[in-house]
Amino acid sequence: MGPLPPSTDDRVIWDMWESQFRLPVATVADEVGTFRALGNAPMTTAELAAEIKVDERALGIHLAALASSGLVEKRDGRWSATPQARTWLHPDAEGYWGGFLFRFRETIPMHAQLLETLKTGKRPANAVSGGPEWERGHMSQEAAERIARFMHAHSMAPARGAARQAVFKDIGKLMDVGCGSGVYGIEIARAHPRMEVTLLDLKEMCTEARKFVEEAGLTGRISTAPVNMFEQEWPTGHDAHFFANVFHDWSEETNRLLAKKSFDALPSGGKILLSEVLMDDELDGPWHAASFSLLMLVGTLGKQYSLPEFREILESAGFTDVTATRTGGGYYSLVSATKP
Ligand SMILES: C[S@@+](CC[C@H](N)C(=O)[O-])C[C@H]1O[C@@H](n2cnc3c(N)ncnc32)[C@H](O)[C@@H]1O
Repeated sequence: MGPLPPSTDDRVIWDMWESQFRLPVATVADEVGTFRALGNAPMTTAELAAEIKVDERALGIHLAALASSGLVEKRDGRWSATPQARTWLHPDAEGYWGGFLFRFRETIPMHAQLLETLKTGKRPANAVSGGPEWERGHMSQEAAERIARFMHAHSMAPARGAARQAVFKDIGKLMDVGCGSGVYGIEIARAHPRMEVTLLDLKEMCTEARKFVEEAGLTGRISTAPVNMFEQEWPTGHDAHFFANVFHDWSEETNRLLAKKSFDALPSGGKILLSEVLMDDELDGPWHAASFSLLMLVGTLGKQYSLPEFREILESAGFTDVTATRTGGGYYSLVSATKP
C-alpha cells in the first residue's frame, strides 16, 4: 500500500471539481428566463441573448453547459429546451421546479458569479483566479508561487499524457510558452532524454519553474526565459512551440496574435502544439469542456475552443495541417500544426 505515481487519467478529480457548475448553471438559466424562452420557440444564441437581455458570448458558453446537462439542444443552429426542461423547468409547466431551485440562488456562491458573467459579459470582480495577476504582465512572488502550485497539480496527468505523443520524437529543441510550474516541459523532457527545453513565462513564474526543474534534476536540459510573450521578442532556435492551457485564457483576437508571434519565431517546418480540453465542433458540449469553459468565463478572458476554432486561429497566422489527438486517459487533446 501507500502512494502511487501519477497516471494520465485524473478524471475522478475533474468530474468532482467540475460538478460545482452543474446546479448553478441551471439555476441561473431559470432566473434569466432561458427555459421559458427556449421552451416556447427555438432561437439562435444571438436571438436568445436579445430576448433575455444578456451577453451573447457568455450565453453561448452557458448554453453549451446546459446542452451537455440535457436541458437544451441545438438543431440547425437554433437552441430549444429539451422535453425534460419543458416539463420541469418551464415556469408555466405544472411540474415547474422553480419554487425548489429558487433557494439555491442564495446558497450557492457560484450562482451569483455565473449570473454576473451573463449580465455583464465580464468575469466577476471578486473572481479568484490567476487571470487578473498575469494579465498585468507582472505578479508578486507569492502569487506566482500559488499559481505554480495549483497549475502543477492541475496539469500533472495531462502533461504525462502529452509527453507520450509521437510528435515529440522528432523535436530536438522545444519551447514551453506560458509554462507555469514547467510541469509539461519537465514531463516531456523526462520522456525524451535528448530534448532541450526552454520554459517561457513572466519573470516571477520562471523563478518558480526553476525550483520544479531543480527538483526534477533536469537543470542540464531545461532553461527558463523570463519573457512577456505579448510585449517582448521571443527566443528563437526551437523546432516547436508548446502551449498548455494558454490559449484558453485569451480571446480569439489575442490568440491570433500569439499564433502569429509563434509563427514568426519558428523555422520553416516548425510545429505549434496546444494542449487543451476541446469543445465539440458544434460547441454544445461535452460537459467536461463546457464546464471548464464556464471556469474560464468566471476567471479569465477566454473560453475552451473547438478544433475548428483553433484551425481558424492557427491558419490565420499561416500554419497548415491542423490536427488534434486525444492524449492519455484524461480530457486533454494535443492540437498540432506546421509552419510550411
Ligand atoms: C493557465 S497557466 C498555464 C500554465 C501551464 N502551461 C500549465 O498548463 O500548467 C497560464 C500561464 O501563462 C502565463 N502568462 C500569462 N501572461 C503571460 C505573458 N504575458 N507572458 C508570459 N507568460 C504569461 C501565466 O503566468 C501562467 O503561468
